[in-house]
Amino acid sequence: MTRIKIKQLLQSEGTGQDVTVKGWVRSFRNNQFISLNDGSTNNNLQVVVDLNLIPEDIAKRITTGASIAAHGALVASQGKGQKVEVQAKSIEILGDCDPEKYPLQLKNKPSLEYLREIAHLRFRTNTFGAVFRVRHTLAYAIHKFFNDKGFLYLHTPVITASDAEGAGEMFRVTTLDAKNPPLNENGAVDFKQDFFGRAANLTVSGQLEGELGAMAFSDVYTFGPTFRAENSNTPRHLAEFWMIEPEMAFFDLNDNMALAEEMLKYVIGYALEHNREDIEFLTQRLLDEEKQKPQNERSELDLMQKLNFCLENAFAKITYTEAIDILKESPNYKKKKFQYPVEWGIDLQSEHERYLVEKHFKKPVVLTDYPKDIKAFYMRQNDDGKTVRAMDILFPGIGEIIGGSQREERLEKLEGRMKEMHIPTEEMYWYLDTRRFGSCPHAGFGLGFERLVLFVTGMTNIRDVIPFPRTPNNCEF
Ligand code: 4AD
Ligand code: MG
Repeated sequence: MTRIKIKQLLQSEGTGQDVTVKGWVRSFRNNQFISLNDGSTNNNLQVVVDLNLIPEDIAKRITTGASIAAHGALVASQGKGQKVEVQAKSIEILGDCDPEKYPLQLKNKPSLEYLREIAHLRFRTNTFGAVFRVRHTLAYAIHKFFNDKGFLYLHTPVITASDAEGAGEMFRVTTLDAKNPPLNENGAVDFKQDFFGRAANLTVSGQLEGELGAMAFSDVYTFGPTFRAENSNTPRHLAEFWMIEPEMAFFDLNDNMALAEEMLKYVIGYALEHNREDIEFLTQRLLDEEKQKPQNERSELDLMQKLNFCLENAFAKITYTEAIDILKESPNYKKKKFQYPVEWGIDLQSEHERYLVEKHFKKPVVLTDYPKDIKAFYMRQNDDGKTVRAMDILFPGIGEIIGGSQREERLEKLEGRMKEMHIPTEEMYWYLDTRRFGSCPHAGFGLGFERLVLFVTGMTNIRDVIPFPRTPNNCEF
């Protein structure tokens, strides 16, 4: 008999029809009630065991974590908490699980930190089940959003020889002998003898290649892994993260901002619609977690309300210069509560971003026109000679979720800026060619996928929204 997934069974009427169900035992109460989960939904199916029908040697192998197949009648449940249940006629143990050794005995609620250490098993908990189903839905929604708008999904390379952001935070890719690399006349490592005949690294961004695509297809996006060897051990940074980078020809910064806001609202709305139960579960999880905190540190809105609020309200839009003025006028600044200085020209610290989003505007904020000296070389220069057409989108509890800009499409301006910033123009001939051959105004942005998943799931550490996090000193699994 074909197996039916639990999500589907829980939506069916229990009319006594025979069904086969397979999954992992979450608990076995009173030698009678199995809570079975197969990952298709956060909800467990109750399988009722009659010890007169199930041999004792099988029954005692029904332990938490074991994998089983149950065959029986789907009936309306007499107990509360579920509409239907399966009355088992037979049970097969597919994989035993020694309760003495199983690290996920759910008797005491395991901490998120402990679950990170057993990330190979944490998918089997309610919290991570919900988080990764939501992550899946968000990924799907992003592809759907861009596909429906006629964007082309462009696969940009993972291994590259350029540093797109010019920030020098790259992981080297090499097959040279680390103990004894070949050296050139100057005594430096001779990458001419390396696999690619030159130094190569893992990409920090697919943007530059994305721009090449936009100059032919008009609208493209990438969605792939990106790598940053920045030594920031924070709840918002990963060494390997996924980024979505749309790039649009004939777009200016206003078009770019509008698209970013529309996309964020679309994918959040899509998850609310398609992962309602998971988000309800995560909302309750966060409420329980916040009960430990003093009243004044708890969120005003719960997760579900926060997501809906984000959908219903237009993002605030201000320039960097206006943001600095707001910060300087703030009680935090006047009472010297900011740890870092506030001065025109500084890179905003997370405390500044959080003040703007969480205290001042109380909603997502789009900041534009940053000082050129704190932004990448490719951003379009404003006439003031000081600022560039950059935009960052800041989210409550997250800080920067999107970074983007209108691009510098004028060849001389771009080359000038690259020279100022010591970026080799000869090596980047291919990028500059787009400005030589049919250049046009264009813009794009990068959405940090894990930061989006953090926001939608209400989790607080980025290590808990990617299956196997890579961070400084951590590359397990
Ligand atoms: O602001 P970033 O560095 O922008 C770029 O890479 C541009 N090339 C994007 C573009 O215009 N096409 O990174 C974009 C986003 C950030 O806003 C943040 O959400 C995320 O990527 N991000 C990280 N997420 C997790 N861990 C890290 N170490 C991250 N660094 C950036
Ligand atoms: Mg950025």
